[in-house]
Parts: sequence; structure tokens; C-alpha cells
Amino acid sequence: MSDAAHGLPAAHDVVVIGGGGHVGLPLAIALADSGASVAVYDVDVATVDLINAAVLPFSEPGAQPKLDAAVAAGRLVATTDAAVVGTAESIVVVLGTPVDEHLNPDPRAIPAALGACTPYFRDGQLLVLRSTVYPGVTALVEKLISELGHDIDVAFCPERIAEHKAMEELYTLPQIVASRSPRGRARAAELFGRLTDTIVDLEPEEAELAKLFTNTWRYIKFATANQFFMMANDRGLDFERIRQGLTTGYPRAADMPGAGFAAGPCLFKDAMQLAAFNDNNFALGHAAMLVNEGLPLYLVTQMEKKYDLANMTVGILGMAFKADSDDARSSLSYKLRRVLDFRARDVLTTDPHVTTDSRLVPLETVLADSDLLVLATPHRAYRGIEPVVPVIDVWNFFGQGVAV
Ligand SMILES: NC(=O)c1ccc[n+]([C@@H]2O[C@H](COP(=O)([O-])OP(=O)(O)OC[C@H]3O[C@@H](n4cnc5c(N)ncnc54)[C@H](O)[C@@H]3O)[C@@H](O)[C@H]2O)c1
Repeated sequence: MSDAAHGLPAAHDVVVIGGGGHVGLPLAIALADSGASVAVYDVDVATVDLINAAVLPFSEPGAQPKLDAAVAAGRLVATTDAAVVGTAESIVVVLGTPVDEHLNPDPRAIPAALGACTPYFRDGQLLVLRSTVYPGVTALVEKLISELGHDIDVAFCPERIAEHKAMEELYTLPQIVASRSPRGRARAAELFGRLTDTIVDLEPEEAELAKLFTNTWRYIKFATANQFFMMANDRGLDFERIRQGLTTGYPRAADMPGAGFAAGPCLFKDAMQLAAFNDNNFALGHAAMLVNEGLPLYLVTQMEKKYDLANMTVGILGMAFKADSDDARSSLSYKLRRVLDFRARDVLTTDPHVTTDSRLVPLETVLADSDLLVLATPHRAYRGIEPVVPVIDVWNFFGQGVAV
């Protein structure tokens, strides 16, 4: 389909490649809200149709009113037609960068995905990489552009928002801007200056590592808390009581997180990207992976020690990877369910937001039919429920401690 067939204007300030995704779309909406004319290019037809109908394909608080306004004003359109890339002054790439089933990153994924767009690249454009990339991908893309013979400025400007905080953090977080060319740097800073006042300059290789270090740092912190939880629990002690005790009035430990499932599409895979980058020589990152990914199994083993699990129905509350979200990607609730499917008599699962799982049953059914519950995702929707069976509550959601 041609650009004109979509009724798109001939020129856009920004085209977001992968702009139907969890971070691409909030950015596209925010840029359109700042007055830019924005086009989303995405290969997912259903997502493109939803955006053009001003329907968010996933939940993101605060995004819907801005999406409504941007679509109504003609400042945001979506298309599956790669030709739209040729209409852009600035191109922002926010494609997914998953690791494969053997935990290998694919440094060629972004250059390969750009293949459909390269015929439409033209001199004078700014190309911003915003995905969390394997170190060296910016240089690969620079090489690709140079081989095409185009005069295009390339910048790497990592996205650092957390899902469900996008419409706040796009405006409040400093933006890291990295480009080898002063003009690329200035243009990228101007683009993100539409949203935020603070621009942080780094070299591309520094910025690539900055993003991976950020996510891995968080992942290791969660793993530390989870290992402390297991350590205390194995000695009959409640980690949450200890944590609250040690953080009280003590600023140097104030950032110690509570225990909980550290999951989702970013932290684990970015720790593994960093490990691969360091020739798989990353003891802390791999240890964090073992601890975080091992937590569901630890919980099931504890449940077996305490209960006649094989003859019980276990209810899992929450399948999304984080509270109040509908995003079930890489959620540890699924690992928990797989283990329980094998070791419990029956497993019931529920979630108020996830729509992508045919095994979900209503909360009332889970509460009525389970012998034991696991609070896997601390959705606010579970506030106020009063379970009549024991609850495994590693988040201390119900305030009764986390001991299992
Ligand atoms: N999700 C987060 O919270 C978050 C936060 C910061 C950074 N990031 C990074 O941002 C990047 C995107 O993550 P996401 O969660 O938004 O992923 P996503 O899967 O939600 O979005 C990617 C989008 O790209 C589209 N797409 C796939 N192949 C395409 C192609 N060849 N051409 C055009 N579109 C294509 C998909 O249809 C999808 O809409 C990743 O590198 C991720 O690590 C994510």
C-alpha cells in the first residue's frame, strides 16, 4: 500500500520503526503531543489498525487521551508500508532485541530488520537507534548507512522508561544522546529536547553499555534481595521483617528492594546481552539469573515441604510480569505455572489485565476452588481480597510477611 493510500501527509517530522511496540508507541504519542507530525511504521497489521483507530494495543497509563488528540489532529498515523520511512526527517528505531532460546543476542537483528526500510533512506535524515542494543550495533548501523552511500546522521539514544511510567518518564528522565557526528548529536538532542530538558552526552559505545549496565544493575539488586529472602527463609526467618528493620532510618541501605519475581522482557535479556558481550564471563550476571529465575522453583519446593502439594489445587494470582500491567512477556508466573502443573494436583490462574492467555479463569473461581494461593503479581486489583486459604506472598502484598 502506498503512503498516499493511507492518506498520510508527504512529510513527517518523525517516523518510528517498531512504533507499535511497548516503548515505541508511547514515544510516538509523546512526540506527536509535542506538536511533531509522527508516523508509526510497524509490521503488525492489527496494531497499526488499532493505532489508526486511536485504540491503545496495550495498557499505558496517561497515553490514551494523548493518542486520541494526536490521531484526531492528524499528527499521528500508523502504517505497515515501509515507504513511509522516506517521508521522515528523523527516523527512530525501537524494534525488539530479544535473546534467543540459548540466551544469545542477535547483533544483526536490527540491521536485518532495517532491510525493508533501506530503499527509502535518503540524504539528510537523522537515524536514531533507541532499542537496547548489543554493544557494537550502532557501529554496525553506521557501516550499513555508509555502505548505502547516504549522508545520514546516526545516533544512539537509549530508551530508559519503565512500562506503565512512560507518559511520565519520557518527560522527566534525562536523555542519553550519543552520536559520532556533532550534527547528529545536535539533531538528536533537539528531537528529544521536545520532551526533556536534560541531555546527557556519551559516545555510542559508552551509551550502549550505559543502558545494559542500568538494567543489569537493577536485575542484580533484585537477585540480591531474592537470595537474602531464601537465605532468611531457610532459617525460619522473615526477610521482610529484616529488610524493614535494617532500612529504618538507615539511608545507605534504603535502596534494598523487597523480594519478588524479577521478570519481564528487559532485565533478564539485557543481563544476558551483557554476559554474551563479555564472552560469557559475567559471574554476577549469571548468578543473578540463577537466583531470579530460580525463585518460582524455590517457592514450589518450600510449598511441598509444608503442604501436601500433590493433592492440592493451587491458584496463581497474577500472570503479568509486573503489577497493574497487561504485559505477560517473560513473566515468571508462567514458569511457576509450568512447575506447579507437574507438582500440584491442579493449577488455576487468573489476571485482571492479561488478555493473551486462554487458561485464565475469574478471580472468584480461583479464590473459591484453590487449597493454596500464590500471589505472583501484586496487582492493585487484589487489594481488599480476603483469602481463606494460605497465601504464598513473596511480595508481602498482604502485609503478613514473606516467610514460606
Ligand atoms: N518494554 C520496556 O519496558 C522497555 C524499556 C526500555 C527499553 N526497551 C527496549 O526497547 C526495545 C523495544 O521493546 P518493546 O518492549 O517495545 O518491544 P515490542 O515487541 O513491544 O515492540 C516492537 C515492535 O516492533 C514491531 N516490529 C517487529 N519487527 C519489525 C520490523 N521488521 N519492522 C517494523 N516493525 C517491527 C513489532 O510488531 C512491535 O510492535 C527493546 O530493545 C527493549 O529492550 C524496552
